[in-house]
Amino acid sequence: MTLIKPFLKWPGGKYRVLDRIHNHLESDSQSPGKRLIEPFVGSGAVFLNTSYKKYLLADTNPDLISLYQTLKKEGEPFIDYCRSFFIADNNNESRYYELRHTFNTTEDVRLKSALFLYLNRHCYNGLCRYNSSNGFNTPFGRYKKPYFPKKEMQAFYTASKSAKFIHASFIDTMKLAKRGDVVYCDPPYAPLSKTAYFTDYFSGGFGWEQQTELSDCASQLAKKGIQVIISNHHTTNTAKLYKNAGASTEKFLVRRTISCKTNQRNQVEELLAVFQ
Ligand SMILES: C[S@@+](CC[C@H](N)C(=O)[O-])C[C@H]1O[C@@H](n2cnc3c(N)ncnc32)[C@H](O)[C@@H]1O
Repeated sequence: MTLIKPFLKWPGGKYRVLDRIHNHLESDSQSPGKRLIEPFVGSGAVFLNTSYKKYLLADTNPDLISLYQTLKKEGEPFIDYCRSFFIADNNNESRYYELRHTFNTTEDVRLKSALFLYLNRHCYNGLCRYNSSNGFNTPFGRYKKPYFPKKEMQAFYTASKSAKFIHASFIDTMKLAKRGDVVYCDPPYAPLSKTAYFTDYFSGGFGWEQQTELSDCASQLAKKGIQVIISNHHTTNTAKLYKNAGASTEKFLVRRTISCKTNQRNQVEELLAVFQ
């Protein structure tokens, strides 16, 4: 199967585990008319590589959702506009911080969306990090020639015709699920150790309370006949959480890039929990 790559660098991208997810997601050919809901859409790897008739794609990152909405609305002219920022003169530290400042202060949605992509490809490790006043604060990435993802954006634009993008928390998105929908959840990972939750760095505002809430929502939807699949790290806690909520779970190993040096990788255990 040829996979379509997302145009954004996004942590936890599901690109490498699509095969596993596919085994559980019912495709269009098997059940026509179904809609896939992704409450944590991120870079959209699952959306891009499935073929449901309709998609409801949500995330709490407003910049991400604005970018998707602008691309869906405008297509090629917006892709060209984004490209205009990928020039040698913009690939140095001082220009990066100037454009980052513009991103943090502008109210022009089109400009902000284009700069979000510029930042994603020029910042350190593609990290999307904000300070307490919601200002993007990832430092400059020092890449020789950042790649402009033209064909990936075109593929996303084509796919976006069947999608609706909303800025919402997973609780509100899951309330919109109806019988016949399938819900795929890829929440921020639960940490590999229990103690990691004591540091904000690992929880990213999505603590154990949210993981439990998500599992409860999934089990409620399953009771209404709506299938929900959740991906997460496999830990004693996550396995217990989903099992107690009535899901079946599957464990497997995933190769994960842990630094900007592509040769530094390790393997982590992931799980898929299926509520139905
Ligand atoms: C692990 S990423 C998703 C990765 C994605 N499936 C992919 O393939 O790239 C988790 C996403 O959840 C979003 N998020 C964090 N808290 C959330 C919440 N309470 N409700 C909805 N989305 C949330 C983040 O902005 C992030 O994009």
